Amino acid sequence: MTLSPTHTAVASPAGSPETEASRAATPRHYLMCPPTYFDVVYAINPWMDPTSGVDTARAVAQWEELKATYEAHGHQVEVVDPVADLPDMVYAANGGAVVGGRALAARFVHAERRAEGPAYEAWFSGPGAVVGLKSLGQAVELNEGQGDFLLAGDVLLAGTGFRTTLAAHAEAARLLDVEVVTLELVDPRYYHLDTALAVLDDGAVSGERTLAWYPPAFSSRSQEVVRDLFPDAIVASDEDAAVLGLNAVSDGRHVFLTDRATGLHERLRERGFEPVGIDLSELLKGGGSVKCCTLELDLPR
Ligand code: ARG
Repeated sequence: MTLSPTHTAVASPAGSPETEASRAATPRHYLMCPPTYFDVVYAINPWMDPTSGVDTARAVAQWEELKATYEAHGHQVEVVDPVADLPDMVYAANGGAVVGGRALAARFVHAERRAEGPAYEAWFSGPGAVVGLKSLGQAVELNEGQGDFLLAGDVLLAGTGFRTTLAAHAEAARLLDVEVVTLELVDPRYYHLDTALAVLDDGAVSGERTLAWYPPAFSSRSQEVVRDLFPDAIVASDEDAAVLGLNAVSDGRHVFLTDRATGLHERLRERGFEPVGIDLSELLKGGGSVKCCTLELDLPR
């Protein structure tokens, strides 16, 4: 079953030359962390079952495939060293928020992940960091980086309800010098904004911002906010949301997402995007997919 979108796309039919031509990829810079120590030994979200039996070697192979896929599409990938005893560090999106080169390292909610904040800060301020990146240090307020902060052009969409706090939204607005739009999450399965919403086009080239989302994950007031700002947003079905299909990364044209979200692949094609399916089944056991494994370094243009 597919939920019908509340707003029908006005784009030309799937695969038509006009639509394809209107989507332009821009080269991106990502930070990733290999799942060398990945495991599910505690449960801090409903996806995690410590008895699930993680195949770490398989997780590493799937992660390598994701990294190679980014590189094959012309994107640059930086790698931060994994830390033993931090099994969730592979979810690099949570390491911080990066806007216009300013990097604000995360402050994690759960004790199990707390040491990741300083580890990501060390990378942001260390010798391996990329030109144009400036560390602002670690945030004071509880925030889980791009798990809850998603840049959509000149606004930072900010999730709250489970992890990142309202105080952290205010801190991000001030330190990253960006307008923040708060969105309240209400379903524990979608505990981070990036599990329920993906920015597909930041409008930089096309002039038109687009995203995909799963409305039931949001409070009714926040649903109104999203509909107002993004009337043409793609609405994901229950099934596509439930395989974390919205935990996706877009370069403006290619959308990297789980190969399991087949309905969403279709919706994306109808709107002129090229879905690139990735198998991250092992990382799903920790409650994450493509976007969770990817911190986008938004550098000064
Ligand atoms: N096990 C991790 C946690 O619950 C998964 C984090 C997923 N990351 C994300 N950006 N949604 O914190």
